[in-house]
Amino acid sequence: MISTVYAITLVGIGLVMAVFYFVIINSKKTEADYQSITKKWYDVRSKWFIFLLILGTIVTFASLNPFPIPDQHKEYSSNDYQIVAVNGHQWYWTMAPATVKSGQPVEFQVSAADVNHGFGIYDENLVLIAQTQAMPGYTNKLIHTFDKPGKFKILCLEYCGLAHHVMITELTVE
Ligand code: CUA
Repeated sequence: MISTVYAITLVGIGLVMAVFYFVIINSKKTEADYQSITKKWYDVRSKWFIFLLILGTIVTFASLNPFPIPDQHKEYSSNDYQIVAVNGHQWYWTMAPATVKSGQPVEFQVSAADVNHGFGIYDENLVLIAQTQAMPGYTNKLIHTFDKPGKFKILCLEYCGLAHHVMITELTVE
C-alpha cells in the first residue's frame, strides 16, 4: 500500500515537473516572440513619431500667418502724427477726435475709466487691424497708419460686464 502511494506521489511529482518544464520552455519561446514584436512596434513607433514631428512642423509653419502689428517703436516727429484720446467706460467709448486722415500715422492714447477693456479697430469687413488694452490708470499707445479712407468699427475685446457687447463706436478715416 505504502509503495503504491509512493509510486503515485512520484508520478505526481514527475507530472508537476513536466508541467514546470513545459512552461519554462514555452516562456523562453514567448519571450523571444515578445522581443521581436516589441522591436517591430518600437520601430513603428519611432517612424510614427518622426512622421508626426514632420507633420506638426509643416502644419505649424503653414498655419502661421503674420498678424499685422503696426510698428510701435518707429520714431515719428510729433508733428507727423494725429493724436486720438480713447477712454473705455462701462459700456461705451469716448474718442476724440473720431475722424482722422489716411496716410498719416495715428497715435491712439488708450485708457479706461473703470475696468479693463480691449480697444480693437476693425475694418469694414470686420477684420481686426490693430488692438491694445484699455486699462484704468495706464495710457497705452497704439500707432496705426490707415492707408485708405473708410468707416472703422471700434469694439471692446475684453469682457467687462453685462453690456460688454454694446461697446461699439465708429472711427472715420478721410
Ligand atoms: Cu468693455 Cu468689454
